[in-house]
Amino acid sequence: MQTLGKYPSVRMRRMRHDDFSRRLMRENRLSPDDLIYPVFVVEGENRRVQVPSMPGVERLSLDLLTKKAEECVKLGIPVMALFPSIDDSLKTPDGSEAANPNGLIPRVVRSLKKDFPELGIMTDVALDPYTTHGQDGLIDETGYILNDETIEMLVKQMLTHAEAGADIVAPSDMMDGRIGIIRDALESRGLIHTKIMAYSAKYASCYYGPFRDAVGSSSNLGKSNKAVYQQDPANSNEALWEVGLDLAEGADMVMVKPGLPYLDVLWRVKQEFMAPTFAYQVSGEYAMMKAAFQNGWLDEKKTVLESLLCFKRAGADGILTYFAVEAARWLAEDRL
Ligand code: PBG
Repeated sequence: MQTLGKYPSVRMRRMRHDDFSRRLMRENRLSPDDLIYPVFVVEGENRRVQVPSMPGVERLSLDLLTKKAEECVKLGIPVMALFPSIDDSLKTPDGSEAANPNGLIPRVVRSLKKDFPELGIMTDVALDPYTTHGQDGLIDETGYILNDETIEMLVKQMLTHAEAGADIVAPSDMMDGRIGIIRDALESRGLIHTKIMAYSAKYASCYYGPFRDAVGSSSNLGKSNKAVYQQDPANSNEALWEVGLDLAEGADMVMVKPGLPYLDVLWRVKQEFMAPTFAYQVSGEYAMMKAAFQNGWLDEKKTVLESLLCFKRAGADGILTYFAVEAARWLAEDRL
């Protein structure tokens, strides 16, 4: 049936024909301002330890990390997110090294904030890099992850970060009620400017595998998983509920994690709450993409920039990505 005659009545291709008109109607743009750079830090000097499952990602000692921080500042990346890889000898069942005010992370935070006061520093609040069992919290004799006891340790950990000068603390543990308790702990110490980025919709995902290699928790975790506290990948209403709770408890920013397979969740969260919302393009996503780049199957620059732009279209205000430095470099290059 042809009611509109022989030719298309609307030519959508007209606006796609020229670069100027494509630019004119572009709805979303990626900028270095959108990027958060997650990094792994180790003790020592001039030390870089590869992460085999994340080609191109290295665990760095503070002196080398300082150079990375300088690069972030130059490229206009607003925030660096720190994750520790500590020696096995410091790991305990209760992960108490996490609460050491002179531990690796507080020392690194103090040094980076001194050298680069303008660079936002975010820290991870969870016990998995510090526990002998690789879980994010304390466990009882049955292996159950204890909620309230874990929060007590998390608060101690968080305070060592905030008191060292961390700008953003990011609880990634998924214990119930931790955001409210962390907010109270900050307020009662007068730390009113410390921001909380809540890992709110954090799924029990196999895409975290390479990260667990990087912080050295995967062999300790063994066959056990985190499904008793992280969310079921089958659910998205539950994610809204979690986000609502975290915002009500005092989160300044919320996160959906992993990234690309969860863009629907990201979209729903942004539409529903309109709060600052972030996505984490996690280690497994990085590893998959890198594998394809290394095989020459996908173009690295184009694929990375497209994937990051898609996060923005889906509602992200920013993206945590291991590609942050490269992406910011490419964006700068394209602007010239
Ligand atoms: C742990 C934590 C994880 C990540 C960030 N914080 C892993 C986990 O929950 O096991 C994953 C990041 C990534 O995969 O890139 N609290």
